[in-house]
Amino acid sequence: MSQTTDLRAQVAIIGAGPAGLLLSQLLHVAGVDSVVLEQRDQAYVEARIRAGILEQTTVDLLRRAGVDARMNAQGLPHDGFSLAVDGETFRIDLRDLTGGSSVMVYGQTEVTKDLIAACKARGTPLIFEAADVTLHDLEGASPYVTFTKDGEARRLDCDFIAGCDGYHGVSRASIPEDRRRTFDRAYPFGWLGILADVPPCEAELIYARHENGFALASMRSPTRSRYYIQCDMGLRLEDWPDDRIWDELAVRLGPAAAHGITRGPSIEKSVAPLRSFVCEPMRFGRLFLAGDACHIVPPTGAKGLNLAASDVRFLADALILFYGRSDEAGLEAYSSRALARVWKAERFSWWFTGLTHRFPETDSFTRRIQRAELDYIRGSRAAQTALAENYVGLPIQ
Ligand code: FAD
Ligand code: PHB
Repeated sequence: MSQTTDLRAQVAIIGAGPAGLLLSQLLHVAGVDSVVLEQRDQAYVEARIRAGILEQTTVDLLRRAGVDARMNAQGLPHDGFSLAVDGETFRIDLRDLTGGSSVMVYGQTEVTKDLIAACKARGTPLIFEAADVTLHDLEGASPYVTFTKDGEARRLDCDFIAGCDGYHGVSRASIPEDRRRTFDRAYPFGWLGILADVPPCEAELIYARHENGFALASMRSPTRSRYYIQCDMGLRLEDWPDDRIWDELAVRLGPAAAHGITRGPSIEKSVAPLRSFVCEPMRFGRLFLAGDACHIVPPTGAKGLNLAASDVRFLADALILFYGRSDEAGLEAYSSRALARVWKAERFSWWFTGLTHRFPETDSFTRRIQRAELDYIRGSRAAQTALAENYVGLPIQ
C-alpha cells in the first residue's frame, strides 16, 4: 500500500459527531479551513439516536454558526420541566427562575444532519469510513494524521488536530498515559430508552423519582416521544416488550402523566450505560480534545451534547485568535477554561442522578434523605434557582 501526502488543512478534525462538525463549521465562518475524518458511514452517523435537549448557549452557538434554520422552524422551546416525586408532580419554571433562559427540544440526529449538510454545502472535505486513523508528531510543529480510505493509505498534514472522536476514539488514547489523568465513576444501572411515534404525555419533560427507579418523559416533536426508565445493566431487551415499558412508565411518572400517555409500537429500543468521566488536561502538544473524547456525564442533566458544544466554542475561539493575530493565549488557556465548565456540569449531572435514581445499596435512610431534598426543592425558590440555572446551562466564561 503506498502512502500519499494528499491532504492539507489548518485543522484536522477527528470525528463527525456534533463536536467535530460544529468545530469545522465555526472555523469555516472565521476563514480557518479543516478536514473532518469519520470512521463510520454517513447513514450510521445520521441515524444515531442520542440527546434531545439544547441549552440556550448551544442554541446561540448554532445560530452563530449559521446552522439554525431548521432548528428555528422545528425545534420546540421549553420554558420549564416537571419533577415527579413518587407520583406527585411540581414544575420548575426555567424562564422565571433564570431571568429569561429556556432550553430547546431538537434532537441530536437533526443537529448532526444540519451540520453535515452545511459541511457539504461549503465544500469542506468530510471523509466517512476513514479507517486506521493514527495521529503523529503531536508534540512537534507539524503534526499529521494517517488513515485508510477504500483500501488506500492517506495522509493529512495540519497545524493542529482536534480530537472530537468520542469516548472510544483514538485521540485520547494517543496521549501517553503518564501525561493524562482520568477521573471516573460508573453507576450500577442504565437507562432503557424507547422512541415512539405517539404524542408526548405532557407538553414539557418530566423527570421522575420513584421507589421502582427513575423515569423520564421526553420528546422529539409533537408527534414523537422519547421515554426512559432506569434499569439493570444486565437487562435483556426481549424481557421488556413495549407493553411492559408503557406499564412501568405509567407507574413511575405518576397518575397525571399516565393519563396522558399514548401507547404505540417502539421504533427504537436500547439500553445506555451511565458514567461520569473526565480526562485532564484536554491538550497534549498540538492535539486538543473536545466533547465525549475527554468527558462523559450521565444523561440525567442533558449535558453531554451541550458540553461538547461549549468545548468547541472555546476551541474555535482559541484557534481563530491564533490564526487572526498569531496569539497563542487562547490555545494555552483552552484546557483550563473548558475544564472549569466541564466539572460544573459533571457535578450537576452526578447530583441530579443521585437525587432521582434508586441505587442498589440505597437504604431506607438514604431514600428519606432523597425525598427530603426533593421536598426542599419543591418549597424553596433558592433551591429551584440553583437547579434551573444549571439545567439551562452555566454561562460560557
Ligand atoms: P460523538 O457523538 O461520540 O462523536 C464522535 C464521532 O467520532 C463519532 O461519529 C464516531 O464514529 C467518531 N469516531 C470514533 N472513533 C473514531 C476514529 N478512531 N476515527 C475517526 N472517527 C472516529 N447526551 C444527552 O445530553 N442526552 C442523552 O439522552 C444522551 N444519550 C446518549 C446515548 C448514548 C448511547 C451515548 C453514547 C451518548 C448519549 N448522550 C446523551 C451523550 C451525547 O450524545 C454525547 O455527549 C455527544 O454525542 C458528544 O458529541 P461528540 O461529538 O463529542 O461525540
Ligand atoms: C432525551 O430526550 O433524549 C433526553 C432529554 C433529557 C435528558 C436526557 C435525554 O436529560
